[in-house]
Amino acid sequence: MATTRGGIITGWGIGVPDNVVTNEDLSARMDTNDAWIRERTGIRERRIGGTTSQWAIEAGLAALERAGRRPDEIDAVILATTTPDQIIPATSATVQDGIGVPGGAFDVNAACSGFVYALTTAHGLLAIGAERLLVIGSETLSRVTDWDDRSVAILVGDGAGAVVLEAVDGPGQLLSWNLGADGSLRHLLKCDHGGFLYMNGKEIFRKAVRVVIDSAQKAITDAGLTADDIDLMVPHQANLRIISAACQRLGIPEEKAVVVIDRYGNTSSASIPLALADALDAGRLNKGDKVLLTGFGGGMTWASAVLHWGG
Ligand code: COA
Repeated sequence: MATTRGGIITGWGIGVPDNVVTNEDLSARMDTNDAWIRERTGIRERRIGGTTSQWAIEAGLAALERAGRRPDEIDAVILATTTPDQIIPATSATVQDGIGVPGGAFDVNAACSGFVYALTTAHGLLAIGAERLLVIGSETLSRVTDWDDRSVAILVGDGAGAVVLEAVDGPGQLLSWNLGADGSLRHLLKCDHGGFLYMNGKEIFRKAVRVVIDSAQKAITDAGLTADDIDLMVPHQANLRIISAACQRLGIPEEKAVVVIDRYGNTSSASIPLALADALDAGRLNKGDKVLLTGFGGGMTWASAVLHWGG
């Protein structure tokens, strides 16, 4: 990638509800059970409650603290979300005000691929002069979920993850990116105004594995790497079986994939930054590591990026 100004992630943080909803809790209100949910999805529990701006602010403040930066040092807030607090204004406006960032603010909606779309967009802003950006993925999918519909209710969770991205001279961390969409598949996962989330789980499963492999493979190749070079994979957390299938077909050992779906469920655009923060807090990333972020979601959209950690 030809760029004279790149970005590095200098801080990260999360914000999640305290309220834990287990598979047993769901079994008490709908026809499902813990064994089925764990076997078919890998989910044990999820956090439920609050608002998208609330978790975004909490995650954003935590990321700033970790980066040792004040809100007034941030040029813009980029919020990936598919569950905004309102239609107008953008939820990033509430987050900008809540954190006290003097710069710009805008939302990105690419469903579950949103965080990687936002991170890629942020690198574009750094290339044209921005110094520091707050990139957040935050969702409250529970607010658009029919809690009597077991096909969706067992999957979703609420929360946010955030990173501070700072400009550096030279290429920075981002080695490659790949963004894609196929709007002819938009009927597979949707939520109309005032309605509930609908998904064709089987069809999404099939398509997701295909697009995520293709997108991840392109990003790895564009980075001048092979699957063997990837030290850590941070996949979208939609289903543990999708993560396993993607690892297998990409030739990346499953131990290299970060898994937080067991604790958080599918948090859409929050899932990749939540997983990244989890890996960083667990000390799973070392200087020089090559990190693959990859996800897919409604639209359909897909997005992958390869980072050179500490690069
Ligand atoms: N609890 C218990 N049983 C359930 C159930 C639930 N929540 N949901 C479905 N079942 C039953 C079905 O009725 C069916 O029973 P039958 O065999 O007697 O007909 C059986 O379990 C299998 O259902 P099926 O829908 O084929 O399950 P699946 O293996 O496809 O898993 C999903 C369903 C939703 C977990 C899976 O398709 C999936 O994860 N898809 C991708 C979703 C996704 O990624 N969404 C986010 C995109 S960002």
